[in-house]
Amino acid sequence: MAAAEPINIADLERLAAEQIEPGALGYFAGGAGDERTLRRNTEAFAEWELLPRVLVDVSEVSTATAILGRELRTPVLIAPVAFQRLAHPDGEPAMARAAEAAGTVMCVSSLATAGPAEVAAGAGGGRRWMQLYCFRDRGISRALVAEAAEAGYEAIVLTVDAPFAGPRERDLRSGFELPGDCRAPAIDAAAGRTDLTIGEVFELVDPTLSWSDLETLAGEYELPILVKGVMSATDAELAVGHGAAGVVVSNHGGRQLDGVPATIDVLPDIADAVGGRIEVLMDGGVRRGTDVAIALALGASAVMVGRPALWGLACDGEAGAARALGMLTEELRLALGLLGCASLADLSPAHVRRRR
Ligand code: FNR
Ligand code: LAC
Repeated sequence: MAAAEPINIADLERLAAEQIEPGALGYFAGGAGDERTLRRNTEAFAEWELLPRVLVDVSEVSTATAILGRELRTPVLIAPVAFQRLAHPDGEPAMARAAEAAGTVMCVSSLATAGPAEVAAGAGGGRRWMQLYCFRDRGISRALVAEAAEAGYEAIVLTVDAPFAGPRERDLRSGFELPGDCRAPAIDAAAGRTDLTIGEVFELVDPTLSWSDLETLAGEYELPILVKGVMSATDAELAVGHGAAGVVVSNHGGRQLDGVPATIDVLPDIADAVGGRIEVLMDGGVRRGTDVAIALALGASAVMVGRPALWGLACDGEAGAARALGMLTEELRLALGLLGCASLADLSPAHVRRRR
């Protein structure tokens, strides 16, 4: 029925909500505390306006870019999202195939329901990064990184904004815990079982991690490390100084410290501080191709999307996730053309302003 066909990410979100079991839906959709930051992430994009230039040849518009020296067909990457088999039985391998079809990178969570080698085997030639939670048992993190490197993953994304789980009140109300049959190899290894609450999962993560550990890891691992969860120019500067290959400006999709700003609002200062020395990515609240254009105009080299790709996966497995990526990339292509930009390199801060 044509009327039910999803045409944008909001449509996919509505359809996904009908597919996912209520406890898991609360886990996926929810944020911390009063969910102020969760809402701010999306709302803040509306406070930035786009300023088009005209009479530019836009007969060919490219969304291609390069991150860490390698070409991508779109600057929309897949953020690490845990437990994807709770959204769709095909889980992470299907998400990885969708990323490959879209010509982008999938960042696989440490808390994936398939290990890095299994995702790679299920997805063939696509490009992948490995998200790392540094576990108290460092051997488990080291084994994950070794497995990912062996399977051809190109970078480590070290998440640093979650030494503890944020206060996710939807989960407290629903009593959500991971179903015992939902395998997550890293949790199996760290805890010996998987039927844990999210709070218990985070107790496996090492809260002592510091900048000197970043430097040690950067020396130890052969893969470049991007630091995910940076929200200040000062920390971005420290990331540069301690060997990071990039930062991901992120508040974990509003799931950790409630009350922090929208990521799009802290991005400009961070991009300025980094000044092109390392990659600057951002995530949080990207729901439209125009949001991607705003983020790139404000200095990000790419964005990551968490929930949008997950909603697509929940609706229709690989095809649904591919559809979500396709929607964002085609919206971006049209936005670029209408902005008078034939490529992403033509986007500049002059194409955006704060709403007055
Ligand atoms: C996440 N995120 C996340 N981040 C991470 O580094 N490791 C992880 O395992 C997870 N798991 C996870 C689960 C779920 C259900 C969500 C919604 C998010 C955060 C994620 O990578 C990203 O920062 C946000 O999702 C970005 O915000 P949007 O795109 O969802 O608005
Ligand atoms: C979350 C974790 C797993 O946000 O990062 O739930």
